[in-house]
Amino acid sequence: METPSPIRRQRSKPLPSVEIREMELNDVPEVFELGQKLFTAEEWPSLYRSWNDHELALLFSSDADTCLVAEAEGQVVGFALGRMMEKPRSAWRYGWLLWLGVDRRFKRSGVATRLMKQMKGLFIERDARIMLVDTAAKNHSAVAFFRRNGFGQEIRHVYLSQNLENDPRYIGRKDNSEDDTDD
Ligand SMILES: CC(C)(COP(=O)(O)OP(=O)(O)OC[C@H]1O[C@@H](n2cnc3c(N)ncnc32)[C@H](O)[C@@H]1OP(=O)(O)O)[C@@H](O)C(=O)NCCC(=O)NCCS
Repeated sequence: METPSPIRRQRSKPLPSVEIREMELNDVPEVFELGQKLFTAEEWPSLYRSWNDHELALLFSSDADTCLVAEAEGQVVGFALGRMMEKPRSAWRYGWLLWLGVDRRFKRSGVATRLMKQMKGLFIERDARIMLVDTAAKNHSAVAFFRRNGFGQEIRHVYLSQNLENDPRYIGRKDNSEDDTDD
């Protein structure tokens, strides 16, 4: 599908060669597992919260043609999952790279760069005029990666949260459900 780029870092043991290809249905569990390892609650709480097998299956079923995996020795070692977005009555079409991840063993060997290049090509083929990516501001490796790959015009976005456990309606709901389990 594309010309592999050379491995750029010296490692004690050379990495196996990596192929970038379209994602297939039977890759879904492996992609999910890899995401579980990368989007941890301690490191990236918002990614951890939204990464789940149901969302992944939904995304794959609606947008399989903009989902890619990186494979080495028969194993999924990276993924890039995107979707096209368009607004009715607007000439603008966007390609949104929603999820990007590379197995820790393969980091800094150009795998994400290859996934990104291929994803950009898929978006351009679908007439996207702008490509969007987002990540937490403190995800320094992802921010460095995106900047290195030509992204700019950064807009800061704030996530806020509120614990609902002290709300009387939450407490009432909890009491009710405990009553239910007692029956
Ligand atoms: C961000 C991520 C996808 C980068 O994958 P990768 O395959 O290691 O990236 P590449 O090897 O293609 O890196 C290309 C360039 O990006 C920059 N870069 C990547 N990781 C970096 C890091 N940890 N620190 C600084 N710069 C980094 C560098 O400029 C690098 O070029 P170099 O290695 O020649 O210096 C990977 O670290 C990852 O999976 N992170 C966890 C998941 C995540 O946060 N995803 C993004 C939000 S969904």
